[in-house]
Amino acid sequence: MHKFDTLIRNGLIITAADRYSADIGIRDGRIVALGQELGEAEEVIDAEGLWVMPGGIDAHCHLDQPLGDGAVMADDFDSGTRSAACGGTTTVIPFAAQFKGQSLRTAVEDYHRRSEGKAWIDYAFHMIVTDPSEKVLKQELPALIEEGYSSFKIYLTYDDLKLNDREVLNVLAMARREGGMVMVHAENADCIAYLTELLEEQGKTAPRFHAEAHSSIAEREATHRAISLAELIDVPLLIVHVSGPEAIEQIRWAQGRGLRVYGETCPQYLMLTADDLDQQGFEGAKCVCSPPPRDPAAQQAVWQALENGVFQVFSSDHAPFRYDDPKGKKLHGDEASFTHIPNGIPGLETRLTILFSEGVIKQRIDATRFVALTATNPAKIYGLYPRKGTIAIGSDADLTLWDPQARTTVTNSELHHAVDYTPYEGLELMGKPMMTLCRGLVVSRDGELTGEVGYGRFLKCDRPQPARPRGMAKGF
Ligand code: URP
Ligand code: ZN
Ligand code: ZN
Repeated sequence: MHKFDTLIRNGLIITAADRYSADIGIRDGRIVALGQELGEAEEVIDAEGLWVMPGGIDAHCHLDQPLGDGAVMADDFDSGTRSAACGGTTTVIPFAAQFKGQSLRTAVEDYHRRSEGKAWIDYAFHMIVTDPSEKVLKQELPALIEEGYSSFKIYLTYDDLKLNDREVLNVLAMARREGGMVMVHAENADCIAYLTELLEEQGKTAPRFHAEAHSSIAEREATHRAISLAELIDVPLLIVHVSGPEAIEQIRWAQGRGLRVYGETCPQYLMLTADDLDQQGFEGAKCVCSPPPRDPAAQQAVWQALENGVFQVFSSDHAPFRYDDPKGKKLHGDEASFTHIPNGIPGLETRLTILFSEGVIKQRIDATRFVALTATNPAKIYGLYPRKGTIAIGSDADLTLWDPQARTTVTNSELHHAVDYTPYEGLELMGKPMMTLCRGLVVSRDGELTGEVGYGRFLKCDRPQPARPRGMAKGF
């Protein structure tokens, strides 16, 4: 019997902290040796010229999420995780969403049924809390956090999802007591409703007006409010999908005051602007997401916040709706007001390559920060570290082998999701995930799937260390 199942030789290992040349010995899906001349293995992978990084963790994506308005997500756990694997991702964390009036546990159980036997890579669940009843706050959430669902998202906008400030406070106080990580969708619902009404009165209903209705001021206000409510309770929180400088300033201000406030951004805020919603006919619907992409100055601010550490997490916010589909972007036809277009864009498979090319290769961020943003920090913030998110003895052998010299052109027909478009069609990128291993199994090679459906395992998340309060609040 060989000492290792797999040996990865001659690669340059890059983690969030270090870069060094070493071989990696893998046994039973875990990393068991790092060093030179490690000996024999069942399978040897030659990584000469490649960078060996932790497999990506996409900590914000939506797969097969029931919506209740007739829209249907294009990707389930099968197509979503195959697409993720081909893009270098080895763990995804989508959302088990509660409908108002529904038990949260029912939502989680339903989501297990949707994922069971379908995933190509590992997965955990966040929850979405829309109805923080006494039962949810006192019984369901404490039990679910204990059982490995230790993070959840709340919304300050969307009529069917949003919480009022008192509800947010109740949720934050529960998170503080139980050690859960709170993610916030920060947009002011009333500002958006007011602007929407004005625009509709003037007949301004085309997709591009979505970006005007979802003003960056509405995002800034809600970001500041969420931070203030969390400060009052003394609990950490993470602002998701931050689009530009207004919200970034609020997060930086909070961090400067020593608050545990984390930030996430996504490829669309680097690569798209509001002009991408202004296309021929209804085409702009393809780029309708919330918050919307802004302008080139906002893109620069987002790059800077990735570089200087205001953001900890880089996720796709993959929210997959087919364009030419009455259950997708055309739910209400191709002349519908922007208010009726399902929000979200696809990006599971392109997330890493975009940041690698536009960030690392163009020297806006270094390779260790790339690893921190796309794997190590999400693992820490959501309670999966050090099992996931690093290259260390004892960690799962979740690895992506990158060729920094390879060139690719994004083409939807070559992606593995079930969406009929990508907003990045034709984009030329540098750097490619040549091979992805999830717990030692090669799940994709040169952009093609090599794993097994159902191989992906559900991961229970620990209470995250970054969710711990500072211990400043009185009376909780
Ligand atoms: O437009 C977006 N981002 N859709 C996905 C749902 C969400 O709010 O993250
Ligand atoms: Zn959101
Ligand atoms: Zn989302």
